[in-house]
Amino acid sequence: MPDANTTSRYAVLGQPVAHSKSPLIHARFAAQAHQSLRYEAIEVAPADLATALAAFHAEGWQGFNLTLPHKTAAMALCKTHSEAAERAGAVNTLIRTEEGWHGDNTDGTGLVRDLTRNLGVTIKGKRIAVLGAGGAARGILAPLLAEIPRELVISNRNPWKPEDIAAALKPLGNIVPRTHLSLKGDRFDLIINATSAGHHGEIPRLPPALFATGAVAYDLNYGKAAEPFLGWARAQGASIVSDGLGMLVEQAAEAFRLWRGINPDTAAVVAELRQG
Ligand code: ATR
Repeated sequence: MPDANTTSRYAVLGQPVAHSKSPLIHARFAAQAHQSLRYEAIEVAPADLATALAAFHAEGWQGFNLTLPHKTAAMALCKTHSEAAERAGAVNTLIRTEEGWHGDNTDGTGLVRDLTRNLGVTIKGKRIAVLGAGGAARGILAPLLAEIPRELVISNRNPWKPEDIAAALKPLGNIVPRTHLSLKGDRFDLIINATSAGHHGEIPRLPPALFATGAVAYDLNYGKAAEPFLGWARAQGASIVSDGLGMLVEQAAEAFRLWRGINPDTAAVVAELRQG
């Protein structure tokens, strides 16, 4: 754990990264906990990631968050990985060790905390559908399973990716692979959009009437990219709809805890971001 009295350096690496809210979030966490640290947003092209991480390690940087498009590629650049990173096949948090970078993934923990603590959603015993079968979907499945839902479905346009993911995570529990169109006639208590469709102003093609009474719709994206799915969910009768802003803050809080050994207060930071 770095000394709280010397200025440690952290950053989020991505491309693009200028829009990132992570510097503000970590500045608030550091101020709350009287921690002396610098946290920046640094644009790194995929082809430069390996060289950049080696140089940052040599310069004594303490940790990084990774955002698009680096989460999967950075796996191979870590000396060691947490179980969460291995299950997700992706890292969003790097922690300095003398030998190199330790890769972790706090996205799933962040999602579950936002759902259960901030939104008051119960996962245990509920029917859940995760839409999409890319890196974002993969990263949240194990933490959702750990909450013991009645059924956890992963659904995509075609069946192959959900089948592969369900098979890979079989030792952790049952995940049911489906296609979006095959969900017709099913009802879910919680539907999580983990597709990237919203970035193009789209939603996955889904059958109607998927929401059970009192159901929750959650989009891992926040802001504009979450609007198409959440608008559709409202029109389809979802009782609670939420974008992923709370998850963003919660995954950052878990990274901060891994780096600094301190649990930040997230509620004030979520409220500040919601106000714009
Ligand atoms: P990420 O790391 O954000 O998960 P990804 O690995 O490219 O990104 O995965 C994107 C996911 O969004 C995939 O499940 C993709 O579906 P396909 O596997 O069928 O391509 C899904 N997706 C992207 N655009 C979509 C759209 N317009 N409709 C439905 N699904 C979409």
